Amino acid sequence: MLVISGKNWTLSLAELAAYFQAKNVKFKINVYSKVFFVITIDEPSAIDIAGLGGTIKIGEITAKLPTQTMKEAFLEDNKQAQAEIRDALSPRKLTNQMFEKTSVGKAVFGVSVYWSDPVFRPVARRVQRFVGSAVKKELTAEGKRANFMGFAKDRRSPQLSHVEVLKKNMVKNRAEVLFCVGREETFVAVTVAVHDPFEFQKRDVGKPSQRKIFAIPPRLARIMVNLASCTEGKVFLDPFCGVGSILQEALLAKAKVIGVDVNRWCVEATMRNLKWLKDEYSLENAESRVLQGDVRKLSEKIGREQVDCIATEPDLGPALRQVPTTSYATRLTERLEPLYHVLLEEAYKVLRRGGRLVVVSPYVKTRSGQPVTMRIGDKAVAVGFKRVYPFQKRIFVGDPVGFAELTAIASLVDVEKKHIIGREIHILQK
Ligand SMILES: C[S@@+](CC[C@H](N)C(=O)[O-])C[C@H]1O[C@@H](n2cnc3c(N)ncnc32)[C@H](O)[C@@H]1O
Repeated sequence: MLVISGKNWTLSLAELAAYFQAKNVKFKINVYSKVFFVITIDEPSAIDIAGLGGTIKIGEITAKLPTQTMKEAFLEDNKQAQAEIRDALSPRKLTNQMFEKTSVGKAVFGVSVYWSDPVFRPVARRVQRFVGSAVKKELTAEGKRANFMGFAKDRRSPQLSHVEVLKKNMVKNRAEVLFCVGREETFVAVTVAVHDPFEFQKRDVGKPSQRKIFAIPPRLARIMVNLASCTEGKVFLDPFCGVGSILQEALLAKAKVIGVDVNRWCVEATMRNLKWLKDEYSLENAESRVLQGDVRKLSEKIGREQVDCIATEPDLGPALRQVPTTSYATRLTERLEPLYHVLLEEAYKVLRRGGRLVVVSPYVKTRSGQPVTMRIGDKAVAVGFKRVYPFQKRIFVGDPVGFAELTAIASLVDVEKKHIIGREIHILQK
């Protein structure tokens, strides 16, 4: 199975690993890069793209070829290698299921090219046309009329967006070819599922009560819910629930959710939002409770060992207009530390054994270029938590390049270029 990752590939890969582990699905990561992954799973039906925040497209692999041949064919213009690629591409495997159920009058198919080595960037468009014309020829031979979807010249990469794939009905028609050039192998696949941004957007801006500056984007909320191993029937808690963005995703994952916030308005807003979500997604029987309370008294409010998983974003500090100095940023994070320490202590009390806490802490850019972060790991261990490293050796096949660095990652960082404060995501287990 081929996966096209979201913008933050480490988050996307960590989410997938946690998603399969939580569902007890055996899986292996065969290949990974900043743009796509190749994974093997026991039960392909166990993956539902609507339940993943960090996956953009999923493809079924139809052919593989050595990337060395790609280099010879497109970087050295070797005609023999080009002919080999045409054969290895097996266009029939791609076309024989395309447009099965449609009248093909206005049908379109597309080719998206992804690469992990930037040497392929200058030839990516040529590769796309090459693959497109092989597919078109095969479609014509099969008597199927379909147009190859072209791109405007100024588009940066020859890749269809998920919105285009959805709008042109390309999943149902199996009409998008993914051509992914990896470091050693190149994979050809057909898109079988695509991320639906409109659904996530609806939960973001369609809910009745909103609070823009504090709210976490639904895709990141979903990733956190998955990192927390939240699955059907589990009891899920967000003790800093705000307007309930993380709870919404946990409810969609079929958990029983509990939200707590110190602010009365937030409690009411979360109630309204969860009611809206239940109506919108026909979740009439979903269980939810929202309580007003301070995290300092969390275990008194919820009871000990009552919760299976927690994902939460406490205070990340004030919005900053300009990039601070290291000492200012340090003062900001130190001021927040006591709240995080209380959270760790109280979360440990309310979690059942083996339960996970996924918590966001601030990642503050500074003028020195070195970010200031909060070292909550030491406190977490002192409280009794184990740190969960998102990438464990056993999930990889062999010893891929860069793999040692990946398995050493203890927390995941999500920071946008335009923002001064980003998020550091920690996974802890009782
Ligand atoms: C960053 S916001 C959470 C936003 C939330 N994830 C959302 O998407 O709406 C932090 C929330 O923690 C709440 N809060 C702050 N201090 C608290 C405390 N001591 N106990 C419980 N809630 C607290 C605030 O009212 C605020 O709604």
